Amino acid sequence: MIPDEELRRAAAVLRAGGLVAFPTETVYGLGANALDPNAVARIFAVKGRPSTNPLIVHAASVEMARELAAEWPGAAEALARRYWPGPLTIVLRKHASVPDNVTAGLDTVALRVPSHPVALALIRAAGVPLAAPSANRFTELSPTKAAHVSLGDAVEMVLDGGACEVGIESTVISLVGKPVLLRPGMISREELEALIGPVSLHANQAGAQPSPGLHPRHYSPRTQVVLLARGDSLPAGRGAVLGWTPKAETHFIVMPRAAAAYAAALYAKLHELDTMGFDWIGIEQPPAGPEWTGIMDRLRRASHL
Ligand code: TXA
Ligand code: MG
Repeated sequence: MIPDEELRRAAAVLRAGGLVAFPTETVYGLGANALDPNAVARIFAVKGRPSTNPLIVHAASVEMARELAAEWPGAAEALARRYWPGPLTIVLRKHASVPDNVTAGLDTVALRVPSHPVALALIRAAGVPLAAPSANRFTELSPTKAAHVSLGDAVEMVLDGGACEVGIESTVISLVGKPVLLRPGMISREELEALIGPVSLHANQAGAQPSPGLHPRHYSPRTQVVLLARGDSLPAGRGAVLGWTPKAETHFIVMPRAAAAYAAALYAKLHELDTMGFDWIGIEQPPAGPEWTGIMDRLRRASHL
């Protein structure tokens, strides 16, 4: 945890309309008072994020989240009770109290109760829900450590809660109409279906993208990323490889075998390699299986496939 004094200062910054970067269990968020449209506008400015991309609103409890939704279907209750606090975001019809710029003008709002103790303590201390995208510039890699957050002076405080345990962004499900998976994550579609029945996959039609996490060129390091299938030859130039089977003459990072540990390590490894001046970063293709779907999604986007 962080000192109470620091938490109180951060809460005061948020109540005054300022920005605070804070840890969640998935990635670091860039937080503002979700009920203050001027504060929310600053998030878009600092990130260089298009105003058409809606934000996730973070609450400290199911009850607090529920007040931000105009409808609370049975599936929301079931998912919230099972997965909150945790890495699941639920899209619902929005309550009138949520400013339009939070939701990019949509009549729906994305809600999440994070499990990181610093995130929960910060929301409670501020006394308001926090709109918070990942604390990186638009299209860049999400931060999983406080040191990865580099958004300049407009961010008044960065709370250091250590390395994020989950390591990739939350699973996003829409419960507006039939359930639709908008962004895969470490809570799998299969787990969600076991609780609420069929969840369809979002059709990624060009020009109709309800979720900007589905834009290609999201979650990208600056260095070119190449997904490597077994037997692929390596690109020319000086590269680094993340995977399981060390290759001679490349800078090789051995990754954890288990999906959860792999996800927790992935962005930190990519941030680190991105500062090392390689011509390319190769990533060995992970195995199939529901626990790898969220990770594969991020790897595909990082490699712009
Ligand atoms: O793990 C996470 O979700 C992190 C931490 C900080 O909570 N946040 C995060 O925020 O990844 P961001 O802004 O990078 O991604 C938010 C995702 C986007 O894919 C966005 O399109 C979707 O949530 N989203 C937000 N509001 C939505 C809405 N009303 N309808 C559909 N999708 C929505
Ligand atoms: Mg993001």
